[in-house]
Amino acid sequence: MRHFLKETDFTAAETAEVFVRAARMKSGRGTESPALARQSWGLLFFKKSTRTRVSFQVGVHELGGQPVMLNADDMQISRGETVADTARVLSRYLHGMVIRCHEHSLLEEFAASGSMPVVNALSDFLHPCQFLTDMFTLAERLAPGRPEAYLDSLRGRKVAFLGDTACNMANSFVLGGAALGLEVALAGPAGYEPGEQVRAQLKKDGLAPTFSFSVDPAAAVKGADMVYTDVWVSMGMEAEKAERLRTMQPYQVNQKLMSLAKPSAWFMHCLPAHPGEEVSADVLQGPRSIVFDQAENRLHVQKAVLAHLASSR
Ligand code: CP
Repeated sequence: MRHFLKETDFTAAETAEVFVRAARMKSGRGTESPALARQSWGLLFFKKSTRTRVSFQVGVHELGGQPVMLNADDMQISRGETVADTARVLSRYLHGMVIRCHEHSLLEEFAASGSMPVVNALSDFLHPCQFLTDMFTLAERLAPGRPEAYLDSLRGRKVAFLGDTACNMANSFVLGGAALGLEVALAGPAGYEPGEQVRAQLKKDGLAPTFSFSVDPAAAVKGADMVYTDVWVSMGMEAEKAERLRTMQPYQVNQKLMSLAKPSAWFMHCLPAHPGEEVSADVLQGPRSIVFDQAENRLHVQKAVLAHLASSR
């Protein structure tokens, strides 16, 4: 049984295959083969979502399957039914699960207890569907029209990640960046270094770290091929809002910082964005911003992930 809980669950060869499949699904939308025909996939959300929820729902439908939307608050799991029993029961009805949750361990327990593929639609630890999509989106610009070269086009590229460098998206860059051979320059306030969990995962996967951490945003952005940021106040961090807005101010991606990156550098953001906080409105809406390509590509890349998992059973 294959799952996609973290960036390193796919080998480099599989990632290259997913990129080619996603490009084919993007250009041939509406003519793709029904990889999930007669299947039902559960989409279980413990947290709010716009892009992930809709792109997976549409994606399962376009692959010939039935998406079953599940709100955790409406289920017995919110009244104490165990994760393991929920996984065992749902495995009797469904062919796969997409889950957005808080603790990453819930995904691992669900995958271990059930008998169907599980996809991480964001946990407090990682956001692998977003990372994979971001890499696909960047590669579209680096190797236009050559999906078979997408993976190679990323190797050795410098990406700068600014702001909340301890969040799940930053962790995904630390882990996925090491797997794909990216140079990942993180810049955020002291105390926001990548944590023990992601360092331990690198070790477990036998990957040498390819990230650096600095409190200097200019040093991180210098010579970057892509500049990335995420909201400063992630879901669940609302109590720290005032402190975060104050300490992360120097890490706002604006025209001045973008001018230090390569002239060809792109700006990326997983969205939702807070213009005026982590990114200035002119960068977010400017010609170097490819944030809406990222959002669109969630659909195509996730369809490729689902088709890949379905064919790997
Ligand atoms: N980027 C992302 O995961 O968006 P949603 O929270 O809207 O799903």
